[in-house]
Amino acid sequence: MALVSMRQLLDEAAKGGYGVGAFNVNNMEQIQAIMEAARATRSPVIIQASRGARSYTNDRFLWHLMQAAVELYPEIPVALHLDHGNEPETCRSAIELGFTSVMMDGSLMPDGKTVAEYEHNVAVTREVVEMAHARGVTVEGELGTLGGIEDGVGSGEVHLTDPEQAVDFVQRTGIDALAVAIGTSHGAYKFSREPDGQVLAMDRILDIHKRLPDTHLVMHGSSSVPRELVDIINRYGGEMKPSWGVPIAEIQLGIQHGVRKINVDTDSRLAITGAIRKAMAEHPDEFDPRFYLKPARAAMQQVMEERMTAFGQAGHAGDYEPIGLDEMAQRYAGQEAAVS
Ligand code: G3H
Ligand code: 13P
Ligand code: ZN
Repeated sequence: MALVSMRQLLDEAAKGGYGVGAFNVNNMEQIQAIMEAARATRSPVIIQASRGARSYTNDRFLWHLMQAAVELYPEIPVALHLDHGNEPETCRSAIELGFTSVMMDGSLMPDGKTVAEYEHNVAVTREVVEMAHARGVTVEGELGTLGGIEDGVGSGEVHLTDPEQAVDFVQRTGIDALAVAIGTSHGAYKFSREPDGQVLAMDRILDIHKRLPDTHLVMHGSSSVPRELVDIINRYGGEMKPSWGVPIAEIQLGIQHGVRKINVDTDSRLAITGAIRKAMAEHPDEFDPRFYLKPARAAMQQVMEERMTAFGQAGHAGDYEPIGLDEMAQRYAGQEAAVS
């Protein structure tokens, strides 16, 4: 199966009332872990690469690894998505490479740190929608900002998404999916106590979904930071501080109210790091990278299977035939013509 547009995966998820995990990758083992988990659970899946991932892998390596993934797992619908594109040019280069979906994160300026003016966000997002939809490629926009500045992504300031502004933003940009800020942040240190309604504003999701029932909502910073994964890291020499992530039950509540894409990166990183630390600590005489990369890949696969099952995408891989990007482009052109 060729790579599929993210719009199709999310439209199908909306029909079926489930969510789809969007998992970040930086190397072959992570792609393999996701694809094996998708096969084991029969899940459609979104694989996403940040700017950092694209420069770490080099775009061409990433592209060919993804080609291997679709060739070896033909029964799995997979979308390749750009995570946190910082300016239209970054989205353009991803589209030219073959990404089937891009995120234009205009909530921040191109430095990925400074909070942007609303009109800047509208303008750059609209520009990307025009460029992407002409090629049948899906666009995710973001309104509001997440907390946290881990790995240089984020302003550190939390601005929750304003539901009224969300309606204006979707109408003026024509995006397929909207990332909402509800108090989460990227990385392992999201909350210093178990999150309740004071820190995790799930009510915003309910409100936005009521106003925009046809827009697919996206939750960033959705790792759950499982205590047992942090404990493995610390048991074998790590020094991670205690913290809380997003409870799976809250994500499931979001899925009942329009959340269709759930971004998870940190949980994969925790699983991999714990497994590598364990293998190395228990066998300090080993020096073959396969010795620790195999358990690392298996540990990530297990987390991926758990998330795919919890989000409800499991069992849906065979539900539909992929729509080509040309056909998607024609559909977008028809919609635009109907509006104007
Ligand atoms: O946006 C955050 C994702 O976890 C990607 O992180 O920019 O370090 O690749 P990264
Ligand atoms: P986590 O750091 O919670 O995994 O979030 C990842 C993310 O939102 C990528 O865009
Ligand atoms: Zn994110």
